[in-house]
Amino acid sequence: MYPAIRVRKSEVESVRKSLFQHRAVDGERRFIRDGEWVEIPIREGMEALASEYGELVWQKRPVFKERPPAPLEMIKKDLSVPYPELLPRKWELFGDVLILRIPEELEDYRHEIAEVYARILGARTVLRDSGGIEGEFREPVVEFLLGDDAETTHLENGVRFRFDASRIMFSSGNIDERVRMAYLPSRNEVIVDMFAGIGYFSIPMAVHSRPKKIYACEKNPVAFRYLKENIAINRVEAIVEPILGDNREHCPENVADRVVMGYVGKTHLFLEKAFRIIKDEGTIHYHETCPEELLPERPVLRVKAAAERSSYEVIGTSLRKVKSYAPGVLHVVVDARVRRT
Ligand SMILES: C[S@@+](CC[C@H](N)C(=O)[O-])C[C@H]1O[C@@H](n2cnc3c(N)ncnc32)[C@H](O)[C@@H]1O
Repeated sequence: MYPAIRVRKSEVESVRKSLFQHRAVDGERRFIRDGEWVEIPIREGMEALASEYGELVWQKRPVFKERPPAPLEMIKKDLSVPYPELLPRKWELFGDVLILRIPEELEDYRHEIAEVYARILGARTVLRDSGGIEGEFREPVVEFLLGDDAETTHLENGVRFRFDASRIMFSSGNIDERVRMAYLPSRNEVIVDMFAGIGYFSIPMAVHSRPKKIYACEKNPVAFRYLKENIAINRVEAIVEPILGDNREHCPENVADRVVMGYVGKTHLFLEKAFRIIKDEGTIHYHETCPEELLPERPVLRVKAAAERSSYEVIGTSLRKVKSYAPGVLHVVVDARVRRT
């Protein structure tokens, strides 16, 4: 049974207002009218308020509000496939480009599936994620299921990211890290983003923290083109300087208060360059993917070893999980405060 407070019709409005202030009204149920009386549904645990406002009643037949059906329910209703339970329950939607993982069992229905998901989720193009992310440039392996243009603008945390989702990765799992980086106290700093991509970290940092300067280095010409576009559409030209090329050759040295190493797969091989980029003292954000059994030691030891080889000491570290990367493997980031010895 569900608690409610019974009041006279003439008192409903004032009692409702007071109960709202107590956060006592149960928003899932409807008010029930019965002649001159109205039952106001309240949340469990709020029964004591009844004596102040009316009479406590226990509803045997509560009336629940209808919930709008979740997108997946609507999708299932519109699709007739042999194994509906295998339909994707999760997806990535960047601007108007949708990325789906479709299991082999539904292979023959993939175009139909794409069409219905696109209609319900409001996408223009649908890509099938068929092989994850590949290679030095971290490129996605995808197949077009609907449309032939995957260039889109994705809005996140007040930042506009323009990119071609069929050629450039965008890790939605890294969102917390992008947000965290955006608000670091870096106002008077010079920052070097060694693996800038389309500006995943550089642009939010520039937009929200407005540091003195960010050198954003990117080797992949396609990502670099979007990096430049994103600098322009987010109006941070005065802060972010894009650099095309390999960071080991093209990043300026001995300039940075902060170095961002947002790359996974062999990132440790770039640590010595990071120490050449940093000033006498600063912070390095070192990312890596690491088997859980090697945490927290391995990434921290890698930074310490590179520091020693570079005549620096590590004066403080903190390690954070960015996301789960694979079964038993985490993507982590070490914030290392370092100083020249
Ligand atoms: C895709 S981003 C990582 C993105 C970020 N961690 C995220 O998911 O939000 C890594 C970028 O580093 C670039 N890259 C790889 N090796 C590089 C190098 N030696 N110099 C400059 N850029 C490099 C890749 O082309 C890629 O665009």
